[in-house]
Amino acid sequence: MRILRFAAVAALVGAFALPAMAADEVIELPHQKWSFDGVFGTYDRAAAQRGFQVYKEVCSACHSMKEGYYRDLKGIGLDEKQIAAIAASVTIPIIGDDGQPAERPGLPADHFHSPFPNDNAARAANNGALPPDLSVMEKARVGGPDYIYALLTGFADPPAGFKMSDGMYYNKVFPGHQIKMPKPLSDGQVTYADGTPASTEQMAHDVATFLTYVANPEMEQRKRLGVKAILFLVLLTGVTYAVKRKVWANVHH
Ligand code: HEC
Repeated sequence: MRILRFAAVAALVGAFALPAMAADEVIELPHQKWSFDGVFGTYDRAAAQRGFQVYKEVCSACHSMKEGYYRDLKGIGLDEKQIAAIAASVTIPIIGDDGQPAERPGLPADHFHSPFPNDNAARAANNGALPPDLSVMEKARVGGPDYIYALLTGFADPPAGFKMSDGMYYNKVFPGHQIKMPKPLSDGQVTYADGTPASTEQMAHDVATFLTYVANPEMEQRKRLGVKAILFLVLLTGVTYAVKRKVWANVHH
């Protein structure tokens, strides 16, 4: 009786689950090698700096990164002078002492400059699509840096018979395969200050490293603390065991 009931439930679940699974295509995200993988992983500072260059020269034309500050760039190895110069290259609108709109150069304590004054302006400039803020994008998508990498390298011609809507671009990993972001990276798009050849894959990898840092600036500290905590627990276990043996040494079993 119990088995029968189980079989009936299983058949019912199966009947509903199967068509749903067939409609939801599962997209494979190949795992890339990241310097910050694993318990001892750290950010590759040079890669993150190249990634910032890609963000600044390409992505920041459309995407904001509102939650980050210029001073955060210290964590990818830039010094205070470099950060001050980067911040000073943007102008921040303010209200002057006379109550009139004015401008001042950016400071390290300012948030990253947004390309558009608000969401409406951003949509108007992007064919109705809102380029999402990239501050925590790495955490907001399954696959994190692997997804960002796959998205940026996943632009292609649509397969034969695939119907594209107007103003959309084919992408191998974007859900539904139609995205309103035009392919942002092509080989040689930026000229890296450190001379690294700027292939599309290299730029995608670097900017994914940078965006992972932006979303997780505390990661290295967190991992170091984790390792210390485990070491402490191992030591404590040893000491506890030694004490236990000592205390019970003269007790007859
Ligand atoms: C010309 C403007 C433009 C540029 C330049 C641009 N993007 Fe986008 N991006 C968009 C728009 C518009 C969307 C929203 C697409 C949609 O929802 O269909 C988007 C979406 C995204 C998404 C989210 C995809 C998702 O899963 O929802 C990511 C991640 C992204 N862009 C990263 C980047 C990175 C990194 C760069 C720089 C290398 C970049 N973009 C450059 C316009 C742009």
